[in-house]
Amino acid sequence: MEKPFTATITGVGHYVPERRLTNADLEKMVDTSDEWITSRTGIEERRILGEELGTSYMALKSLESILHAKGLNARDLDLIIVATITPDMFFPSTACLVQDEIGATKAWAFDLSAACSGFVYALVVGAQFIETGVHKRVVVIGADKMSCITDYADRETCVLFGDGAGAVLLEPGEPSLGLKDFILHADGSGVAYLRQPAGGSLHPASRKTVEKKMHYVYQDGREVFKFAVSKMAEVSAQILERNGLVGKDIALFVPHQANKRIIDACVKRTDLPKDRVVLNIDRYANTSAATIPIGLSEAAEQGRVNRGDHVLLASAGAGYTWGSALLTWAY
Ligand code: UT7
Repeated sequence: MEKPFTATITGVGHYVPERRLTNADLEKMVDTSDEWITSRTGIEERRILGEELGTSYMALKSLESILHAKGLNARDLDLIIVATITPDMFFPSTACLVQDEIGATKAWAFDLSAACSGFVYALVVGAQFIETGVHKRVVVIGADKMSCITDYADRETCVLFGDGAGAVLLEPGEPSLGLKDFILHADGSGVAYLRQPAGGSLHPASRKTVEKKMHYVYQDGREVFKFAVSKMAEVSAQILERNGLVGKDIALFVPHQANKRIIDACVKRTDLPKDRVVLNIDRYANTSAATIPIGLSEAAEQGRVNRGDHVLLASAGAGYTWGSALLTWAY
């Protein structure tokens, strides 16, 4: 069916905190080594947001950079979606906090929870409002302060995560540009392998939940690794195939950054040229919903993507959730 409008990304921005937590720092905190972390994950350092600040701060900064670059006023925005699993608080939503801080008085706002696939999910949701002609300017932000749910005494998880935010602006564009296709999936049986057990209605915060460290990320790394390798590669290959494309047609591949070995496996399966792959896991680690928009923003800044280029996004994370999106870059 012909869409009345195409949702195109017309601006990108990101924010990462200044404070670096290096592998050498972690060697002093838990029984780990720089050699283990870099060889098993590709991570060298991660950024950590100050204790006094929440996810909304980083989300706001990433949005400010877009408005500034485009000379736009926040009052011109119609909708703000924040993909996050580390909201400032359960309610109001982080998106509402950003809406107020930035002064987007005309916009409505909500959070979306899909963990590491949050940005791809939110991009697709936001695009619907552009494609139907309902809205002219939709902001999609992926932001997570993973340090607030990370146990820095657990070497199996504390080396993996970092804090950051990235944002995109969606506007109506020419039919040949913008979001071309997407594949999204969920399988809630993944709760067995990756979750934050407490803090919600099932296990509200109590002395017991704190003592049992139930407010931190729990992960069965090996299981999640197998799932991520197979599903991220599968949806990347599927979306290429059904759009008549092969790896070398893609100018930029922006995968979720959980483990460099997962990305390498995905690149091999889709036969993508290595120089087209966006990697920031070495500098930022896994920032959950923020990895893909940070990657897009840095790649655009570096001039790695041009109007008319095919861009492939792919993610896999808690839920389980996973998906891919194919875009034609608009500027
Ligand atoms: O974005 C959300 C989705 N998350 C992911 O996609 C993460 C997926 N999983 C992974 O990336 C990997 O499974 C990990 C990086 C978490 C772990 O790597 P692995 O190669 O699967 O290691 P492993 O869990 O099989 O552990 C191997 C060994 C174990 O020791 P033993 O039992 O062989 O003696 C671990 O205790 O490595 C040990 N180990 C560590 N050693 C040093 C685990 N963490 C560390 C560490 N430093 N930080």
